[in-house]
Amino acid sequence: MRIKFYLIIFVFVSNCLLATAQITAYQYEAQKNITVSRAAVVSAHTLASQAGESILKKGGNAIDAAIATQFALAVVYPGAGNIGGGGFMVAHLKNGKDFSLDYRETAPAAAFKDMYLDAAGNAVTAMSQWGYKACGVPGTVAGLFAALPYAKFKMPVLMAPAIQLAEKGFVITKEEAASLNSARKDFMDLNKEPIAFVKKELWKGGDTLIQPQLAATLTRISKLGASGFYEGATALMIQNGLQKNGGIISLDDLKNYKAKFRDPIRFNYRGYQIISMPLPSSGGIILQQVLKMIENKDVQALQFQSAASVQLLVEAERRAFADRAQYMGDADFVQVPVKQLLEDTYLQKRISDYIPGKAGNSKETEAGIIPEHEETTHISILDAEGNAVSVTTTLNGSYGSRVVIAGAGFIMNNEMDDFSIKEGVPNMYGAVGNAANAIAPGKRMLSSMTPTLVLKNKKPFIVVGTPGGTTIPTSVIQSLVNIIDFKMNAADAVNKPKFHHQWLPDVIYIEKGFSPAVADSLRNMGYTLQTRSAIGRTELIKINPTQKKKIEAVADHRGDDDARGY
Ligand code: DON
Repeated sequence: MRIKFYLIIFVFVSNCLLATAQITAYQYEAQKNITVSRAAVVSAHTLASQAGESILKKGGNAIDAAIATQFALAVVYPGAGNIGGGGFMVAHLKNGKDFSLDYRETAPAAAFKDMYLDAAGNAVTAMSQWGYKACGVPGTVAGLFAALPYAKFKMPVLMAPAIQLAEKGFVITKEEAASLNSARKDFMDLNKEPIAFVKKELWKGGDTLIQPQLAATLTRISKLGASGFYEGATALMIQNGLQKNGGIISLDDLKNYKAKFRDPIRFNYRGYQIISMPLPSSGGIILQQVLKMIENKDVQALQFQSAASVQLLVEAERRAFADRAQYMGDADFVQVPVKQLLEDTYLQKRISDYIPGKAGNSKETEAGIIPEHEETTHISILDAEGNAVSVTTTLNGSYGSRVVIAGAGFIMNNEMDDFSIKEGVPNMYGAVGNAANAIAPGKRMLSSMTPTLVLKNKKPFIVVGTPGGTTIPTSVIQSLVNIIDFKMNAADAVNKPKFHHQWLPDVIYIEKGFSPAVADSLRNMGYTLQTRSAIGRTELIKINPTQKKKIEAVADHRGDDDARGY
């Protein structure tokens, strides 16, 4: 009996030590592109990728690594990694099964359609985008526990790296210091008690961020399970912290939260099988609509980022985003004509009025007539057994609502802004919507997140996803078209300049580096173009089965993102 007890303690302690062994919290450097033979993890932060990699190396599978990486991101990437937000997971298991897991935030029971309108009926976006009223009921912890049966290790092992990083701290980069400093005023205005993200002086690169309250919250979760977050001390801190300041999330909202397994969006594009996220994300539907609209054109012959290939994608995007605004919302609450939106004949008809060389027009591109009958972060993982996981998770804006739960040390999301707070009023990513995405108690707000897998001959070929609000589906589309149509390697597919169109506003957004000559040609066709900041931070794994070092794992050069593997 006693021997068995010591053995259990020994295995537990050695598992925890191993899980943290390769994490070098005080000295680390991001790796951008790696070519490896067995397994890979790509995420927004070196320490989170290392947490995932260390679990893989000790025998965990891709689900173990996804859980460990997400909890680590909640510590080392407070702008978007989270336990106070939500996300989506798309997985392909080595036995051939696929699933998608929805742990999107929900509207609290006390939420109502016009809750962000003033007395005159005007939308008050400051309320939906910032502070205590902007928070949806968080889903991340429920989601990660829902995924746990597919993992090999127990939660305490998977959470050990995150807890250690929160407790002992980690060194922040210059960019992270600047980002925390940029949120300083909001943090101070909203949070009356001291919080880990604000110190007396401004942050600078090389400082150590220690989060003892977050470590205690993570420890409660690790010991008690999901109820360590949705009930008891943590739930009370959430309810009290928010309600004292005008927020509306209650203990019941937290207790009633449920993550949901959903049937993924599945379709074929040029012989590849694509698996992506269904509603309440618009991402998978937009992906299918756009790729199916362009599939019968010779995209490869048009060449990468020629004016003609950009125009074709822009016109397909315009039409898909018009449909998003009109029809899409949480299908558990509203009827969404998903089947019709994805019918080949519908999509062919939809793109049939596009005129090469002449700009389309969003005023004339209403949503299609259905025949009768946008701070987020992404993780891509492939393990040595052939399981692949794609996860996108978010607080919505950078540092979410900027509300830190007093005593519990984590940041709450501002996801309520992803609802259509008033018909036609754009959210913080410029997306408009209507009744389909109106607020209702318990409803999930429409998302654009597009965690995606591509299979070739039933085996993982690409694992991909990105943050970026409404630019998410269009970034994923371009990464896929770059590889499948333009035959690019993974690094080029991710890092080449991107562009974006979302129906309204009727503008093609381009990144710095987009060809000025092509931009001029598009202007000559009648398009309005606007240069904007970086589009997305794509994390992509591509598998080339015939090669020995078969895995290309790429962390977007647009951020501190990091690829690990072996
Ligand atoms: O779910 C969505 O579509 C948005 N809340 C995502 C926000 C996002 O990607 C921010 N990152 N840059």
